[in-house]
Amino acid sequence: MMPQVDPEARALALQAWLCADPLEKALAARTLQSDWVQGRLSLSLTLSQTWNQTLNRTSGHPAQNTADLATPGRPVRPRLVAAGSVPNRPANSAAGRIALMHAIAHIEFNAIDLALDAIWRFDGMPQAYYADWMLVADEEAQHFLLVCEWLAGQDASYGDCDAHDGLWQMAARTAHDPIARMALVPSVLEARGLDATPMIQERLRRNAADMRNARDLSAVAAIEDALTILDRILNDEIGHVRIGRQWFEWLCAQDGLAPEATFDALMEKFNAPWPKPPVNRTARLAAGFSEAQLDRFSQADRPSAHSGRGKLRNQST
Ligand SMILES: [Fe+2]
Repeated sequence: MMPQVDPEARALALQAWLCADPLEKALAARTLQSDWVQGRLSLSLTLSQTWNQTLNRTSGHPAQNTADLATPGRPVRPRLVAAGSVPNRPANSAAGRIALMHAIAHIEFNAIDLALDAIWRFDGMPQAYYADWMLVADEEAQHFLLVCEWLAGQDASYGDCDAHDGLWQMAARTAHDPIARMALVPSVLEARGLDATPMIQERLRRNAADMRNARDLSAVAAIEDALTILDRILNDEIGHVRIGRQWFEWLCAQDGLAPEATFDALMEKFNAPWPKPPVNRTARLAAGFSEAQLDRFSQADRPSAHSGRGKLRNQST
């Protein structure tokens, strides 16, 4: 059981971030949002007060001070392995579909922590910023729970398959700079899901047609359920990427930086992964990318260093 702390939003976000139990973390993220919307929470602590209040009352996490807060609470399983060690997930068997949806569950689990991290870690943002990320944390938790429910229907659960260990790296590298975080996690890493999800859905639709021909109706039903969940995830993720982009642009405006040049410079500085064509133009336009940016993302090769590079402020990475 998680100990009770005062009803302050950032302290509760950190408490949920520290929680190692996946179900408990997801439910804490859901409760955070519903309590916020119903006016039960304050937003009153500074970052150091958040740390002090939460770490003094939270057991089960090795963090003794702020320097230890690099990675969130995680379960023992799934075993985390290098991305190249995770096997391919062909969707043409029950085991392959479970592995595919397990990978989605792992992404959603990390996405809960990314949203919680954006709430507790970054000081001095407007109230609307924290409210936006509480909404995102709740929706990511809903995604995680939906995928876990699908896995349970296949006699599987989160933790059954190995998962890749790279999802948190960019979060850790941008932990000291909200402008880099808002640029590189939502608009680069999370936006990759906008491109990848329709391709995954296409594979599943082909698989459903094969299963229908084979008269395996339970497999068809499972695939259709998975497609419905992925539709929901894709639709919500457009909003999450848009929220990240809006706060990135707000931070740029505070510092008098040009958003697109700054974004390119941060991509270069952090060696962020360039989108793999084809990009999902419809979803990315809805998320706030410009046509010009998407034209550049559609190029197979990453451009060389951008002229906006010199405008970046110093970062401790
Ligand atoms: Fe999600």
